[in-house]
Amino acid sequence: MSTPEIYIVDDDRSMRDSTRQWLELAGYSVRDFDRAAKALDIIGQDMNVIIISDVKMPKIDGIAFQKALAGIDPDIPVILITAHGDISMAVEAIRNGAYDFLEKPFEPERILDSVQRAVEKRKLIMENRELRSQLTAAHGLDARLVGANPKMRALKQQIMGLAPTEASIMIVGETGTGKEVVARCLHDWSSRKEALFLAVNCAAIPATMAESELFGYEAGAFTGAGQRHRGKLEAASGGTLFLDELSSMPLEIQGKLLRALESRRITRLGSNTPTPVDFRLITAMNITPDQAIDSEKLRKDLYYRLNTMELTIPALRERKDDISSLFSLFLERAAEMYDCLPDMPGPAGYSALMAHDWPGNVRELKSIAERYVLSNLAREERLSKLLAPDTGAEEGASLAQQVRHFERHLIKDSLKRHSGRINRVMAELGIPRRTLNEKMARYKLSRPSA
Ligand SMILES: Nc1ncnc2c1ncn2[C@@H]1O[C@H](COP(=O)(O)OP(=O)(O)OP(=O)(O)O)[C@@H](O)[C@H]1O
Ligand SMILES: [Mg+2]
Repeated sequence: MSTPEIYIVDDDRSMRDSTRQWLELAGYSVRDFDRAAKALDIIGQDMNVIIISDVKMPKIDGIAFQKALAGIDPDIPVILITAHGDISMAVEAIRNGAYDFLEKPFEPERILDSVQRAVEKRKLIMENRELRSQLTAAHGLDARLVGANPKMRALKQQIMGLAPTEASIMIVGETGTGKEVVARCLHDWSSRKEALFLAVNCAAIPATMAESELFGYEAGAFTGAGQRHRGKLEAASGGTLFLDELSSMPLEIQGKLLRALESRRITRLGSNTPTPVDFRLITAMNITPDQAIDSEKLRKDLYYRLNTMELTIPALRERKDDISSLFSLFLERAAEMYDCLPDMPGPAGYSALMAHDWPGNVRELKSIAERYVLSNLAREERLSKLLAPDTGAEEGASLAQQVRHFERHLIKDSLKRHSGRINRVMAELGIPRRTLNEKMARYKLSRPSA
């Protein structure tokens, strides 16, 4: 915490100048005002300042000034100075919360001593406030991004540090690890939190439409462009643009994005004039940047421009110590959603949770918790059955069930490939018509129309 600034308020110019000199010689940074109103105009809550004020001033006197300050921030120390030795006034000022009361004339040492103590006090108050707000913020983040594993704690620390900056951030993590949650937290803890968080899934935009979707177009730019359309980059201005699955964005468009980032301007399709844009960019990918560059899904130049900051979210199997608290949370939420009381899993259930590899990460855990709540399997075996390799069979995986499931899959697939032409399916699978009909009936398969 830096040393508070000192504001001197006095209508007497020579007093202001001499006090200022003493304080500056002692190494303080000082501002002075000839009217209390001028100081009140700029003083706000949480400002790192202390005040020295004369009592006898025109319009707002020192006593009224100190009361007004107490309304803004009661912990800003105020040192009052008066030439009119008046014990009862001094007593009242101190009772109102003034920090100290000095009588003119005074030795420089006297005011330096008082200032030094006031400065220490303010510093402490500011430090406490900052600590408290950090704790509140961290607490909020803990509720959004659950997990106490050291890797998750380090990630949350990074998020708290990066959120308030304007840095572009790339989030890397397997599917379902919480990339979107992290992106939203970065926005919600930034100074842009009141503005728009615009999420764009690059994988969901057809390559041919990527440019018009992202950069917008003018009326008549191409057939069907009826009226001017703002692209996502422009729409996110003032806020945060989240480009999810960046590696699905066509390379040519990545090049345009890079130019937009560098010039802070975009040009709509069919226009010659650039438009300024001001968005903070957060991107996400479920493969590492190296993999994306090697497979030519990510431009190197864009990556170097973006990777100012990279956040990696560990897979759930790398933080198994978080599984049980996440599971309880999702169980609680699911129970509320479906309005029921779940039986908590017993030891067998928890060991099944721990033994699982969680390829779908937190999303998979959440969906298991929802299915757990709705399932009417016995409590002891519920989780092990829900987590059994997906055979498509609700009850789990006996050999006969797996064989039936596989057989159904083969017939369905063959029917589909031959557009329901039964003769070809019979030939391919080598079974007579009657057997095929029976099996189709048993597996509830119908002929797809040709
Ligand atoms: N640490 C966490 N605490 C609480 N909920 C979480 C956490 N991580 C993920 N979730 C939840 O899990 C689900 C998946 O998260 P999210 O959509 O952010 O994953 P993702 O990495 O973006 O996945 P994908 O790559 O498939 O898009 C969401 O419902 C999210 O709320
Ligand atoms: Mg996502």
